[in-house]
Amino acid sequence: MEFPVPNPQSSIGNVPSHVAIIMDGNGRWAKQRGLPRLKGHEEGAQSVRAVLRAARQAGVKYLTLYAFSTENWVRPKDEVDGLMNLLSIFMDRYAKELLKNKIRLRVMGQPERLPEKVQKKLVKLMDESARDYEYTLIIALSYGSRIEIAEAAKAIARKAAAGELDPETVNEQTVAQHLYLPDVPDPELMIRTSGELRLSNFLLWQLSYAELYVTETYWPDFKEAEFFEALKAFNKRGRRYGGVENT
Ligand code: IPE
Ligand code: IPE
Ligand code: MG
Repeated sequence: MEFPVPNPQSSIGNVPSHVAIIMDGNGRWAKQRGLPRLKGHEEGAQSVRAVLRAARQAGVKYLTLYAFSTENWVRPKDEVDGLMNLLSIFMDRYAKELLKNKIRLRVMGQPERLPEKVQKKLVKLMDESARDYEYTLIIALSYGSRIEIAEAAKAIARKAAAGELDPETVNEQTVAQHLYLPDVPDPELMIRTSGELRLSNFLLWQLSYAELYVTETYWPDFKEAEFFEALKAFNKRGRRYGGVENT
């Protein structure tokens, strides 16, 4: 199906161009209903589709979703396998929808740690969707912010050792340029579902000045209406960037 076109008359106001989401609470959602955790992840995949649709409708250009962290590898094998399988199913089911809606798929993290079958599907869909796009969906997979920053430091150190870069010139831009997706602007809004007040190793560098929005709603219950609520809340924030109120 084709998603609705952006509505410039929408009542949301100033729409952030990049929204990042920590999709949390799938397990608790399932537990509350006496269901296995994987059922929560399955319903969570439905929320991904709903939020993708809402973000496009609002005109959000970049949507980054934290789907699997470097820390999540310690979960029971059944759960990890189930999550990888869901990712695979998601790509099969929504590839056409992404292409039709001009949504480019990108990945940040360590895709090389994912099962080969999943990697292949990701590469195929990333290639196909990069040909003609207006929106970008970034999935953080086996993602950890500290390893991302450490890898950037390593790349910079290598260049300095090879004489390609003068250490004295290293600044914020240098670091930013060596992160996973240097061309993507920083998120202006970060949403975390299920009420936890922590970043869980997500985009530590990129979220320096993002507005944080935490809702008690579990991710499987976070659909279009909840996303629009978050955008409205974002609009009420006074963003000062260390300066004084602009009245
Ligand atoms: C988020 O839900 C999904 C992933 C981390 C993959 P959780 O699985 O963390 O759900 P809770 O936090 O246990 O409720
Ligand atoms: C963060 O959720 C990671 C993802 C949403 C993929 P977790 O459930 O893994 O984070 P903690 O354990 O609450 O910090
Ligand atoms: Mg969790």
